[in-house]
Amino acid sequence: MIFNLPSINDVNLEGLKTLVRVDFNCPIDKEGEILDETRIKAHLPTIKKLLDSNSSIVLITHQGRPGSKDFVSLRKHAEKLSELLGMEVKFIEDVMGPAAQEKIKNLRVGEILLLDNVRFVSEEIIEAPPEIQKQTYLVRRLAPLFDMYVFDAFATAHRSQPSIVGFPLVLTSVLGELMKAELSALEKVMNTAEPPKLFVLGGAKVRDTIKIVEYLTKKRIADRILTTGLVGLTFHVAKGGRVGKSVINFLEEKGLTTLIHRARGVVLSGAPVDTPYDLKVLREDGTVVEEPIHVVDGKPMDIGTYTVSMYSELIKEAKIVVMRGPAGYIEDPRFRKGTEDLLRAALESNAFVVIGGGHLGVMLKDVKAKSIHISTGGGALLLALAGEPLPAIAALEQSTKKFLGWKYED
Ligand code: 3PG
Repeated sequence: MIFNLPSINDVNLEGLKTLVRVDFNCPIDKEGEILDETRIKAHLPTIKKLLDSNSSIVLITHQGRPGSKDFVSLRKHAEKLSELLGMEVKFIEDVMGPAAQEKIKNLRVGEILLLDNVRFVSEEIIEAPPEIQKQTYLVRRLAPLFDMYVFDAFATAHRSQPSIVGFPLVLTSVLGELMKAELSALEKVMNTAEPPKLFVLGGAKVRDTIKIVEYLTKKRIADRILTTGLVGLTFHVAKGGRVGKSVINFLEEKGLTTLIHRARGVVLSGAPVDTPYDLKVLREDGTVVEEPIHVVDGKPMDIGTYTVSMYSELIKEAKIVVMRGPAGYIEDPRFRKGTEDLLRAALESNAFVVIGGGHLGVMLKDVKAKSIHISTGGGALLLALAGEPLPAIAALEQSTKKFLGWKYED
């Protein structure tokens, strides 16, 4: 996994008009207020770099999906960005119509404009190959107004939508600072040979995580894979571990029993998977107890103390740690401890640590340390860790060949 793509540091941006694909997709409350601005903050280095290079900047992003409560207009996002940058950020309630086009044409060097939610344009919802996406109205109307396209939205890199894969085919395209940081963290994780390389995989996305375990095993990338959450329960049963009836019922309720067979196949192929020894359990009468996994009687809600301490010891000795997905049901404060303790062990280790976005990213929101990378990617990170091609990267490679004459091996 080697990403060889130009970034904003490799081109002269002086006086250019740049179209920057960001991912400002934030959690939104019922009143439409932004609940967490981590995703916006993550793009500040790119925006500041473009400002320093005297370019004029037009930002394009989605927010939510049609029909969902967080599918909203982006005025609040522009206000938040303006507050974070300490300068005016212009906003227009339009994406590609005459009003937006006029505003883009009149934008001067050093100014920033945020277009409205790109998913208000129905073409953006359709996934198709880049050759199709470059012919959309969105791309045909907007591309002629720009000198360069900057891709900075790692969290969307698994989508093949016009604003992601269409523009690179018609404009010189480079990576932004966030994208560069995400790709170099991934490269370090996948390519560094120094063992032990540890993956701590939890959460509820069991199907996707099995694919990751499969890939890490096939390519001999992981020295050890410590599983937690629903992933841990599934692999425990797949390994032939004994469990109480309530754990089987729980897996059935979550529709996970069909994945046990697949997980077993991965285990039999030699996957270096560890599973939890004990769990924190919610009993039917509402009490919370810790029990060894084979005698659990109730709902498994978190990993237990013994598992935390065994896993923490391994994490502290590792050279590279990748953590994705919570160890338990962290929405309830009674079941956050397992996840918090494992995160603490990772932070206290001397390892290079990559934390998968989502829940874990939010828990570490204000942590700043040199050897930690908190990824903004959800689905995109899952795909990348499973060794699957990211459409955004493929489109950027095509662009680099076409406009900058770079060559890639097929
Ligand atoms: C995310 O939150 O993972 C990205 O913003 C992509 O959103 P999507 O899954 O709606 O495409």
